[in-house]
Amino acid sequence: MRYNLPLFPPQASTIAPQVDALYYFLVAVSAFFIVLIFSLVIYFAIKYRWSAPRKGAAAPHDNPRLELLWTLVPLALAMVIFGWGAKLYFDLNRPPADALEIYVLGKQWMWILQHPQGKREINELHVPTGRPVKLTMTSEDVIHSFFIPAFRIKMDVLPGRYTTAWFEATQPGEYHLFCAEYCGTKHSLMIGKVVVMEPVQYQQWLDGGIPGATVASGPPEARGAALFEELRCATCHRETIPGVMLGPSLAGLFGKPVRLHSGESVIADEAYIRESILNPAAKLVAGYQPLMPTYQGQVSEEGVLQLIAYIRSLGEANEEGRR
Ligand code: CUA
Repeated sequence: MRYNLPLFPPQASTIAPQVDALYYFLVAVSAFFIVLIFSLVIYFAIKYRWSAPRKGAAAPHDNPRLELLWTLVPLALAMVIFGWGAKLYFDLNRPPADALEIYVLGKQWMWILQHPQGKREINELHVPTGRPVKLTMTSEDVIHSFFIPAFRIKMDVLPGRYTTAWFEATQPGEYHLFCAEYCGTKHSLMIGKVVVMEPVQYQQWLDGGIPGATVASGPPEARGAALFEELRCATCHRETIPGVMLGPSLAGLFGKPVRLHSGESVIADEAYIRESILNPAAKLVAGYQPLMPTYQGQVSEEGVLQLIAYIRSLGEANEEGRR
């Protein structure tokens, strides 16, 4: 029945039925109390109307059982809504560890989507069914919001920081992708589509087997490596003179804790690396001088994502021993 109502987009992700269940529950609870309250208002209005015969009995001043009832029932309902909502919130905010990672860049007025294997798409996102996909998102300019109604996910995309969202698509097909935050003149045109494919077709698409697929331009880590050379990062972050390193080594850095000059410790995630590129003095690594210049304005957000992909690949190379 739901599918005949245009109000409801299809449920095309693992989380969609759960989000809908909570939504239906909230609507049902609200509808129940609306009906109850309005029925009683009308009933009492008629029963106690001015012209009706009244008995002389005084109204009771208190009724502890009634008061307990109307305290405990709403409390229980509120706790159910809180517990249920919190569980769903955590599920929506904790991408599984084995998720496919895609970088999303929003800019006036388009979406740029970067696959780890190298495909880069504009306003189109191809994903396989049955595999969690984690989106790491940022904006080149103003606040956008990444919204896929059929997956029941929506997350703001902010300049200057990374936000994440994840989903696991269940049904092959094409679904709407919207920008859900007013972002300027052509906000309404900042739309796209998500193409969900069976894993086999997805692999073919990745390999470039399906015509019409957007340009492949090398994996982001390769472009990050080129940028790394171009910006002369190796001067300090690689051992050019034996035994001398002006900056900390980046091998095996990603995802590991880093000890800072301030004594604190932080995890080297996307946000930390981005900050270290654009504002190196903010979190100085213990044992190093604040020598690094800022790269603010010299490298685009997309370039930062490529550098992160490159640094990340160094980490993997370290874990696997070689590559
Ligand atoms: Cu981007 Cu609205």
